[in-house]
Amino acid sequence: MKKLLAIALAVCMILALGAFTASADEGDLVGLSMPTKSLERWNRDGTYLKEQFEAAGYKVELTYSDNDAVKQNNDIANMIADGVKVLVVVAIDADSLSATLADAAEAGITVIAYDRLINNADIAYYVSFDNYTVGVLQAKYVIDALDLDNAGDKTYNIEFTAGDPADTNAGYFFSGAFDTLKPYIDAGTLKIPSGKTTFEQVATPAWSTDTALENFQNTLASYYGDGTVLDIALCSNDSTAAGVAQAIVSDYAGDNQPIVTGQDGDIGNLVNIVDGIQTMTVYKNVSDEAGVTLVLVDAILNGETPGAELCEKFSADAAFDTETYDNGLGIVPSYLLVPYSIDASNLDLLVETGNYEWDADHMYLVSTLG
Ligand code: BGC
Repeated sequence: MKKLLAIALAVCMILALGAFTASADEGDLVGLSMPTKSLERWNRDGTYLKEQFEAAGYKVELTYSDNDAVKQNNDIANMIADGVKVLVVVAIDADSLSATLADAAEAGITVIAYDRLINNADIAYYVSFDNYTVGVLQAKYVIDALDLDNAGDKTYNIEFTAGDPADTNAGYFFSGAFDTLKPYIDAGTLKIPSGKTTFEQVATPAWSTDTALENFQNTLASYYGDGTVLDIALCSNDSTAAGVAQAIVSDYAGDNQPIVTGQDGDIGNLVNIVDGIQTMTVYKNVSDEAGVTLVLVDAILNGETPGAELCEKFSADAAFDTETYDNGLGIVPSYLLVPYSIDASNLDLLVETGNYEWDADHMYLVSTLG
């Protein structure tokens, strides 16, 4: 009897330990909460994450929430009820997930903020790219293309289009670009005919292509209708660049093709780059972002508290950052991957990622995801 009791006690202790120590078990359930299928990149992220986690033996629940923050809260609540051990979340609205993620914390679920920071929530880690650098790269492209350092008395006109105010990344992208161009604006080399110089004035809710198109048509009608030349449309990402490029094609009267920047390498935008109506995009390899997330989740579930040393295990370059991203509850330790510039001259770099290939005519890039 004593022996039986001892065995029972030992079993209980093992069970209890299992409950309190996160450990990677065969087939752990991971919840992936993506914002929307309507923007190309999240289809890629969802697919790469699902493929990579499943290949590593995890079970995956993947949701898309139609850019609706209420729906995202419901989708995450359902995944909590389904017993996920880890949640990988791209927030639709950085400020709307606190209560739901508090439930996740209570259930002992590890939450990773994926690509976008989540405010006032208990997040274990943030995995993203160096978001400020994205804007810096867009600005540097403009500085180099127009040789602004040797502009002399020449002046250029620029307009900004930024992203969704509910997305923490949008401010970083805009600031990276604006701060880098500010010396040229202050010197008078760059002029902004619309006078729209703040993030709030040029933000695009939900990163909507249609809204970017409409806003830019208004800007062109109000400030360029008299023949004023537009030299640069600095757009934070590809979904907004698509709308701005369309507005320039339909509503800009000038003979020149303005420089149009973007970010992501969406297929339609790469077509526009080949066709010359968008100039560049800042590429972020989201297959690598998914890979970093997997390595991180593995380490956490193995009971580790990953730090800078984890970067050695990634198959892509990433920095461990413990200074930049404060979500209101404190600094969130972050793994930040490296973005780079793509234009018509180096599209082959995208083919080298394995995420794109040339079409039969070697004219446009298509996705290897099909
Ligand atoms: C991402 C960008 C993307 C944008 C719109 C941002 O949070 O970092 O890559 O273009 O959302 O989807």
